[in-house]
Amino acid sequence: MKNAILSHLPVGFPWKDRIAYFETVDSTNTRAKELAAAGAPHGTVLIAGHQTGGRGRLGRSFQSPAGKGVYLSVILRPECPPQQLMHLTCAAAVAMCEAVQEAAGFRPGIKWTNDLVCGGRKLGGILTELSIEPGTGLVQYAIVGIGINCTQQPEDFSPEIRDIAASLSSIAGKEVNAAALAAAMIFQLYRMDAALLTKKAALMEAYRKDCITLGQDIVLVRGEEKQYGTALDIDEEGGLLVRFRDGNIRAVTSGEISVRGMYGYL
Ligand code: BTN
Repeated sequence: MKNAILSHLPVGFPWKDRIAYFETVDSTNTRAKELAAAGAPHGTVLIAGHQTGGRGRLGRSFQSPAGKGVYLSVILRPECPPQQLMHLTCAAAVAMCEAVQEAAGFRPGIKWTNDLVCGGRKLGGILTELSIEPGTGLVQYAIVGIGINCTQQPEDFSPEIRDIAASLSSIAGKEVNAAALAAAMIFQLYRMDAALLTKKAALMEAYRKDCITLGQDIVLVRGEEKQYGTALDIDEEGGLLVRFRDGNIRAVTSGEISVRGMYGYL
């Protein structure tokens, strides 16, 4: 698999010697954190054929069956305070839209903040984790972990997510090559990294174009509490500007947003 991925990357690709492939790991993000703490360089990429403990946002799990998806994490070491990286997940999401378009021939949307979607179903997600240098308060490393469902058929998803998940192959109506997808993801992450601190406004503009949440009626769920509103815009930090039913407009920066017509919310 690793050679197949390398064969899809340009000759002389700068991160080529930093790509590691594992048949099975618990979580590529967890492994990446261990490697980063041990000094692994910027641009180290970990890919797994199977994850036994794939992790998602909000403490959820990410189903990662063997040979069906691409499960990948990259270690980045941008030299900046964490406040300058608030847009990292958004930038990665746009990069993944590009990668899917290249490998599968259609462009997914982004459900704020980190879900790749098409036809109201989830195709994948992004989990970003930061470590801060205690002395300086600067970012020590950032891990961007991405899982994309590539060749699953409906029966490959557990019953709980079968109605809300889909794979690239099922949407494209043709086999999508996982090695080509992985290479496109790595290449687009490399491009994103080059623009991350210098082209923030352009990255956020691209995010707004791909974000299907904008203009939709949403529910913000925090524990037992539900707040209803309309998604108006995305701010420069990736926060979702929502007009709530009380008329107030506030930036939402965390929590779960349900969008009408998606994932069973009617
Ligand atoms: C989400 O849907 O909330 C985010 C899912 C992120 C899954 C990817 S798979 C590769 C990397 N390793 C993990 O354990 N999680 C991310």
